[in-house]
Amino acid sequence: TWTAANIAESLIEDVRAQVGENGLAICGLSGGVDSAVAAALVQRAIGDRLTCVFVDHGLLRAGEREQVQQDFVAATGARLVTVDAESVFLGELAGVSDPEAKRKIIGREFIRSFEGAVTEVLGDRAAVGDKVEFLVQGTLYPDVVESGGGSGTANIKSHHNVGGLPDDLEFSLVEPLRLLFKDEVRAVGRELGLPEEIVARQPFPGPGLAIRIVGEVTGERLAILRRADAIAREELTRAGLDGQIWQCPVVLLADVRSVGVQGDGRTYGHPIVLRPVSSEDAMTADWTRVPYEVLETISTRITNEVPDVNRVVLDVTSKPPGTIEWE
Ligand code: XMP
Repeated sequence: TWTAANIAESLIEDVRAQVGENGLAICGLSGGVDSAVAAALVQRAIGDRLTCVFVDHGLLRAGEREQVQQDFVAATGARLVTVDAESVFLGELAGVSDPEAKRKIIGREFIRSFEGAVTEVLGDRAAVGDKVEFLVQGTLYPDVVESGGGSGTANIKSHHNVGGLPDDLEFSLVEPLRLLFKDEVRAVGRELGLPEEIVARQPFPGPGLAIRIVGEVTGERLAILRRADAIAREELTRAGLDGQIWQCPVVLLADVRSVGVQGDGRTYGHPIVLRPVSSEDAMTADWTRVPYEVLETISTRITNEVPDVNRVVLDVTSKPPGTIEWE
């Protein structure tokens, strides 16, 4: 019979069989559900021979780093290396407004940071030629079907060659979730004792808040957006709407200003866009009919509590024609 406990047990056995008695594994954590559950399973299977790597690119939402560093580690006992890469990412993103350019920079820097950490983790072992190591990925069944593929090996030796990895450091992929759907992954995660904030998390794009700032990404703008996003999330959760909402991007229109009147007088601040959507698979989406009272609370709190924001607007566009994210 299908129970989360049975599935977890058999997946753990499979990982043990694949990695063997001495194999070392690396897993990149994004803060998302899939990588967290995959890492938790592998940790159960091989303990400290798994090292999780978390690249903090400075584009995360409020509380996400703590969720990984404290809650995930407390729940799993996993060995975690955090890479502090905020200043590198912000430096590379300086002056860049184009959405695709942002994505490219973030993707490139992410691989660099990850490789750097992997080199350190594997350290001497890689140098002495224990060539085959394992890379854990949170690939789900729909991803497997989509890519038409089997699992295999990955070579993260980069074309840009900055990580200092040995040239032929190839990884065998460990993909314990490759036969599961999202809801099954969540059930397994709960079975492994992961906290609800991680297991029930809504999708969040890899490039993070950078693609929710329309305009250049700066530390100051990130701080503004982070506060607005935290308020929106808090109030949507409080209103019991998480089950209805697929995700709710909160977007800062950093290149737009409008006139407002706040406190002592005239302000000239930025708009925040709320983009709550309902969806099955993110391929299409409808804008969520969030009750007016909830919108009112979010709007009032954001304009009261977040400096430089004097207007909150609601995105009432379906996908298509609008994408879920603004960039
Ligand atoms: P769009 O904006 O294309 O988003 O309607 C569809 C889903 O994909 C997520 N998304 C991304 N995820 N890297 C990611 O990992 C990205 O560059 C990216 N862009 C969009 C988005 O949050 C939504 O769930």
